[in-house]
Amino acid sequence: MSFVTEANLTDLAVERWKNISDPRLRQIMTALIKHLHGFVREVELSEVEWATAIDWLTRTGKMCTDKRQEFILASDVLGVSMLVDAINHRLATGATPTTVTGPFHVHDSPELGTGANMADGAPGIPCFVSGFVRGLDGKPIKGAVLDVWQTDGEGFYEAQRETDGPWLRAIYHSGADGSYVIRTVAPVGYTIPMDGTVGELMTRTQISHMRPAHIHFLVEAPGYHRIITHIFQAGDRFIDTDVVFGVKEPLIVPFEQKPGGRTPSGETSDKPFYDVKYDFTLQSAA
Ligand code: BEZ
Ligand code: FE
Repeated sequence: MSFVTEANLTDLAVERWKNISDPRLRQIMTALIKHLHGFVREVELSEVEWATAIDWLTRTGKMCTDKRQEFILASDVLGVSMLVDAINHRLATGATPTTVTGPFHVHDSPELGTGANMADGAPGIPCFVSGFVRGLDGKPIKGAVLDVWQTDGEGFYEAQRETDGPWLRAIYHSGADGSYVIRTVAPVGYTIPMDGTVGELMTRTQISHMRPAHIHFLVEAPGYHRIITHIFQAGDRFIDTDVVFGVKEPLIVPFEQKPGGRTPSGETSDKPFYDVKYDFTLQSAA
């Protein structure tokens, strides 16, 4: 038995935590100890800093409810959520990439027909998003589910509004030729919640707490890898500094401004609108 020194403590702790029969838990715990010890050694953590960290984690936990998850927000701003997403969705080149889910998805959104408006009564510039859902082989995917959610034109999600009905969210389906048409309003960039422990930390940095304007999509079809992703408005001023590292180049899409006229849903608009074209490419699950 070796007694503890600063030099041997990491080895002793790793050795102790090897005593786990579940191989995956053993791998995770021993790697965690090595990295945690490495971190503490690298920054030579003071006792005051250690207590500050414990206090921050405690308060972060206390903020979490079934409506708010401050730990996930912490994972988001540290880039951990996007790293986990990337490791778990290594898709082929050409497939629409995934990005962070975020806290605002609501299950069981209303199912709307092609071109129906998911932003009825919401503030914002009318916006049509249309295109095709296809496989990597170019074949159209019929009946793909497109579960869509976003902010309104003032930057608020349903959870941040007092609404009775669904707000800026709906489920659409692709047609026989793989096509889909969504009618909505253009989203705008917004701040992540800054009134919690993550905000407290962010305000001690010079890091932007903004997300660029985006529309969330969950796209799934039998036999294909399900994706959760966003499309981002090209030219948004926060696109290079997204606080949660969510922006991937193939997801940046032009929002073309139209003065009015025929819309992608086949109506005629006397008001200006955005025309957004985006094709989703799904990878076969096989
Ligand atoms: C979102 O896109 O909805 C989001 C993602 C991560 C943190 C906060 C919001
Ligand atoms: Fe979002």
